[in-house]
Amino acid sequence: MTMNSAFVIEVQHLTVSYNARPALLDVSVNIEKDQLVGVIGPNGAGKSTFIKAVLGFVKPDLGTVRIQGVPAQQAKGQVAYVPQRGAVDWDFPITVKEVALMGRYQQIPWYTSPSKSDWATAMEALEMVRMEEFADRQIGELSGGQQQRVFMARALAQGSDILLLDEPFAGVDAATERAILDVLERAKRSGKTLVVVHHDLATAAEYFDKLLLIKQRLYAYGDPAAVLREDLLSQVYEGRLRIFKEVIKKEGAHV
Ligand SMILES: Nc1ncnc2c1ncn2[C@@H]1O[C@H](COP(=O)(O)OP(=O)(O)OP(=O)(O)O)[C@@H](O)[C@H]1O
Ligand SMILES: [Mg+2]
Repeated sequence: MTMNSAFVIEVQHLTVSYNARPALLDVSVNIEKDQLVGVIGPNGAGKSTFIKAVLGFVKPDLGTVRIQGVPAQQAKGQVAYVPQRGAVDWDFPITVKEVALMGRYQQIPWYTSPSKSDWATAMEALEMVRMEEFADRQIGELSGGQQQRVFMARALAQGSDILLLDEPFAGVDAATERAILDVLERAKRSGKTLVVVHHDLATAAEYFDKLLLIKQRLYAYGDPAAVLREDLLSQVYEGRLRIFKEVIKKEGAHV
């Protein structure tokens, strides 16, 4: 099998359903290397399902997902993931640095303990998200935005070329949003491909190189100006277009 090196994520005819109801229908998209990609679409559009299919966590009814040429189910370790907040219960005793170290578990053989270099990688990841001062705190004692950054550190510590983040900006203040965006941009510059579910259309064009607009089906993938078009957004967001008219005006995208 030959690998198409231009694309790190290749999705073809992806169809995923829960209880015989399709959450994603015939989605095909190829994602290039070194991109910061935003996934947009309304609640229930299938954004998280898309992320889980790329991770190989959900089994498609139809279609294929390839990660660097390899079927997603066999490429699980190559993709790091930050789940949507609320998906994790932090009510157990574990420190911030131990959470970051969890990113290394795939690399640590079962018969050994984490090495000095595993700990060093975990600490570097905490520095990257500026949470090193909190290394010895219990994760449950942190604010939601701080927990989100620790979760990112765990994904960064994995050392994968591909990072998938499900709404990392949800419920964080403006300063944390900036800090998270800064981490994403630095990760991109270091050669990673990032796919990020994002809710806020007003910042989508500013934050991302490419946007992927879905609601069950893929409506558009490409440069923000080509995706944030009134005709596309009105199909996907239906009655809520008024807000997006302002977004479109601001971005100068054509209608
Ligand atoms: N485990 C599941 N079992 C059954 N149905 C599910 C499951 N997960 C998702 N769904 C359904 O699939 C559809 C897509 O859900 P998904 O979580 O992918 O949407 P989303 O775009 O991430 O939404 P949100 O913006 O609210 O996070 C929804 O209709 C949802 O109810
Ligand atoms: Mg979701």
